[in-house]
This record gives sequence, C-alpha cells and structure tokens, in this order.
Amino acid sequence: LTLYIPMDSVACAVGADGVAAEFAAEAERRKLDITIVRTSSRGLFWLEPLVEVDTAQGRAGYREVSPDQVASLLDVDLAANGDHLLSVGLVEQLPYLKTQQRLLFARAGITSPLSLEHYLAHGGYQGLQHAARLSHDEIVAEVLESGLRGRGGAAFPAGIKWRTVRQAQAEQKYVVCNADEGDSGSFADRMLMEGDPFLLIEGMTIAGLAVGASRGYIYVRSEYAPAIAVLREAIDIARTHGYLGEDVAHGGHEFDIEVREGAGAYICGEETSLLESVEGRRGTVRAKPPLPALQGLFGQPTLVHNVLSLASVPLILSRGASWYRNFGMGRSLGTMAFQLAGNVRRGGLVERAFGLTLRELVFDYGGGTASGKPVKAVQLGGPLGAWIPPSQFDTPLDYEALAAIGAMLGHGGAVLCDDSLHLGQMARFAMQFCAEESCGKCTPCRIGSTRGVEVIERLLAAPDSAERECQRALLDDLCDTMQYGSLCALGGMTPFPVQSAMRHFPADFGLDTQEQA
Ligand code: NAI
Ligand code: SF4
Repeated sequence: LTLYIPMDSVACAVGADGVAAEFAAEAERRKLDITIVRTSSRGLFWLEPLVEVDTAQGRAGYREVSPDQVASLLDVDLAANGDHLLSVGLVEQLPYLKTQQRLLFARAGITSPLSLEHYLAHGGYQGLQHAARLSHDEIVAEVLESGLRGRGGAAFPAGIKWRTVRQAQAEQKYVVCNADEGDSGSFADRMLMEGDPFLLIEGMTIAGLAVGASRGYIYVRSEYAPAIAVLREAIDIARTHGYLGEDVAHGGHEFDIEVREGAGAYICGEETSLLESVEGRRGTVRAKPPLPALQGLFGQPTLVHNVLSLASVPLILSRGASWYRNFGMGRSLGTMAFQLAGNVRRGGLVERAFGLTLRELVFDYGGGTASGKPVKAVQLGGPLGAWIPPSQFDTPLDYEALAAIGAMLGHGGAVLCDDSLHLGQMARFAMQFCAEESCGKCTPCRIGSTRGVEVIERLLAAPDSAERECQRALLDDLCDTMQYGSLCALGGMTPFPVQSAMRHFPADFGLDTQEQA
C-alpha cells in the first residue's frame, strides 16, 4: 500500500507530519507493508491534511485526517477505495481540481519535492534540453512569442526584458528570482518553491543560457524557512547531477544559483530594493532608469523575475510558444495561479487560463465565505489592490479587463470578506500599512501615508456631512499626489484600496450612498 502525504507548510501547519508518523507507527503495530511518500500539496488547502492512496482507478483521497483517525482508516481496504467518513473519492475527479488547467502546478501533490527522479519522470528538464539546441536569440524569441508577461504583478512582457538583458554588453550578467512574495493572500510562489524546486531551477538555468548570465540568485523572504531549506537542498542535488555548475547538462554553459534570505521588509519585493538587499544594503528603492535589465545587481545587466515567470519558461520551451498561446485571452496569455484566501470556504490554489470570471473563482471554486455570510468584497492583487464589489464579479480575470474597472490582478491573490468587514477601517489599514512599510525615499509616500491615516480617521469620525465632504476632498487630493508623485508602486498604489473602498462602499465612510456600485 502506498500513501501520499503532503510536506507543504500548510499541510504541516494542520498536522500532516503527525499523521504521517501515526501511519508509520500503526503500520508497524499491525505489521503492514506501507510506503509513505511525502509529496507537495495539491493546493486544495481546505482538505489538508489530505492523504492519498493508490488504487486501480487512480489516487483516492481522505480529507482533514488527524492522527486519531489513522487506525480507523487502516481498518478499511484503502487500496480498493474503501468507504470511510473522510473519503473524498478520486482526487483528480474533484471538480475543484478537474476543471483547472494545471501547467505550472502539473506536478503539485503528485511528486516528491526533492526527488530529481520524480521530476525527470514527469517532464522535468525537457525545456532545458530543447533550449540547449537553440541559439540564445532563438530562446529569447520563443519567450517573446509565447506572450508571457511578468507574473509578479506588473505584467511586463517577459520577452522584451530578456531581449534587453541579452543585448546589453557586459562581462557579467545575473538572473535574480524575486521570491519575496509579500502580498496578503498570496502563496503560489511558496507552494512552487517548496513543492517543485527543480522547475524554478530549470527556468533560471534556461534564462541564464538565453541572456548570457552565469550566476543566479533567489531572494526568498525569511518567513519562508521551509522553502529556503528545500531550495538549498534542490540546488545541491541539481549541482551534483550536473544540472548546475561549470558545464550545465554538458552543454558547455556555466550557471549556478545561490539562495539569499530576505529580512522581512515588504519593500524588498520591489525589484530595485531587492537588489540593494542582495548586495548587503538596507532595502531602499533606486530610481529607474537605469533599468535593472541594463544596470542591476552590482551595476550589471540583470534579469529580475518573479518565481512563477521563471517557472513558466521550461514549459514554453518544451511545448512551444504557440502551444502556450492557446491558453488565455487577449494580451493575457497562458495560465495564472489564482490564490483564494481570507474568509473563504474552500481556500487554495486555482490555476486556470486567464479569462475566467471573478464570480467563478469566488463561488465555483471558493464556495463563498467560510462564515456563510454574504460576500461583501474581494481584494485582488494584495494589500495595494482594489476592493471589488459583487456587482463587478462578472469581470473576466485578465490584465486589461481589470484595469478597465480600476482594479488589478497583481500576483493573483484574492482575499474574500463577508458583510461584517468595515471597508472604512480597511482603507485606514491600507494607509497604515504603507506608512509602516515605506522605505522613506520619497515624500508623497513617506509623509503622505501618515497624513492619509489621519485624514481617514477624521473622515470616519466626522460629525456632519460638510466635514465629511471636506475630509473626502482632502483624501482625494492626497491620493492623487501619492499615485502620481511616488517613486515606486508602494506609495503609488496605496490609493487603490482606499479609493475603491470609498467608491464602492461609501456607507462605510458615512458618505452619500447614491454612488454605491
Ligand atoms: P514596473 O512596471 O516598473 O516594471 C515591471 C518590470 O519590467 C520590471 O522588472 C522592470 O524593470 C521591467 N521593465 C520595464 N520597462 C522595461 C524595458 N523597457 N525593458 C526591460 N525591462 C523593463 O513595475 P514594478 O514597480 O517592478 O512592479 C509593480 C508591481 O508589483 C505592481 O503592479 C504590483 O502588482 C506588484 N507587487 C507584487 C507583490 C508580490 O508579492 N508579488 C508585492 C507588491 C507589489
Ligand atoms: Fe520608498 Fe514609498 Fe517612495 Fe516607494 S513610494 S520609493 S516605498 S518612499
């Protein structure tokens, strides 16, 4: 009997290690021949710890298993998909999973994160093999042709960035992976690093080959200790097997990777402060230009990309750009890893081609709120993302459609809230967050965010409508200054959650409700 138990942080946080230990102990007591494989997670977090068992029909699942249920599970014939209170049937037939288009997360929940053998058996390193047969420019052309856009949030065309770094003249170039996933409600980078580290390593290696870089850095937030440990071990394994080092996969190309641990500042997710931090300095934003693509790490041309952008590359190279373009809509091509969090019934990872609606994401996948109360709003794209009311839930999830309603997809995190959440307080929180995380380099953000907290407090406490209107006008003016006068996205985007909350939920600010969307 083979059992699969995830070793992902979320599964472990709800007891997966204890469940695995109890299965081993109970099997020993009963003298049963059981193999326990620790895998990545499927990302169906509301079912964790999700224990899977090989059956003739595929893997059968048992949800929210706790150690005291292990004995009763072993009483049934698990290999024959035996009936049990915790049974969810065949895992890949669950609508939540069956309707997804898992490209990036194709191996999630199936393979063991640190097994290079599993990775190779499931399509690993085919992208690098193909890339090694192409010229540098042909690899860049393939990425350009795929339509891949940066998955960190800004959605800049990846191929253009690659071409810029490729064409820059320098002795030394770098590939830097931004794994400082700081957005509230985001966990896709973490899942990928913990669950499929070789995919990121392969993506970075192809990027190094294409742009002419021999060194890569992965900057991981310090809170992601298990991801850091998995990555370091995976890098060692890849090096031992010749997939990193002086002669990568015997192709005559040198590439190696180092993991750098962040120090906990949100602003270190901004690419130039991240580079400062990798160089050993305090994370402060650098003015652009010069672009990091021309003068980045240690002043050299640097390809900076989010985890998921780099992890998309092996698939684009192995299956082809035209295949990748079949997914998505308009200028948003490929798949997106949407992440459901907050007050949600079925939190987890949903990888789908761009274009599904927010309603499908929130209700078909998420099942609405965990509290059972009506969904009041969703904040999409992290703490700097707009609040979206249910009246706009039919908006397709693609970059342009969301921009048209004053929202953004960002890194794909969606945080649900029910009708008990006060959006006036959340607007205040957005300004407070900016004040605490500001790097202090520019005035609209450093001073503006603190003034913003004060204005919102006065607005919420205003005794009459005249005072409210006065404070609202001040706040609009301040948001305008922050949006257009800030040096980076932290100050520049804080007005999004503030103004969207005011626009869609004026009652929470004591304002005229006529404008309610
Ligand atoms: P940006 O639009 O300035 O740049 C996007 C990327 O394209 C950068 O790497 C930039 O160097 C590159 N680029 C721009 N023009 C280029 C050119 N002509 N040639 C080559 N490369 C070029 O956006 P920024 O400030 O880097 O990112 C802002 C975004 O970050 C926001 O939209 C937000 O969604 C996201 N964000 C994500 C977080 C997360 O946890 N993933 C946290 C906070 C913000
Ligand atoms: Fe620093 Fe804020 Fe200015 Fe960005 S907007 S450079 S975080 S002070």
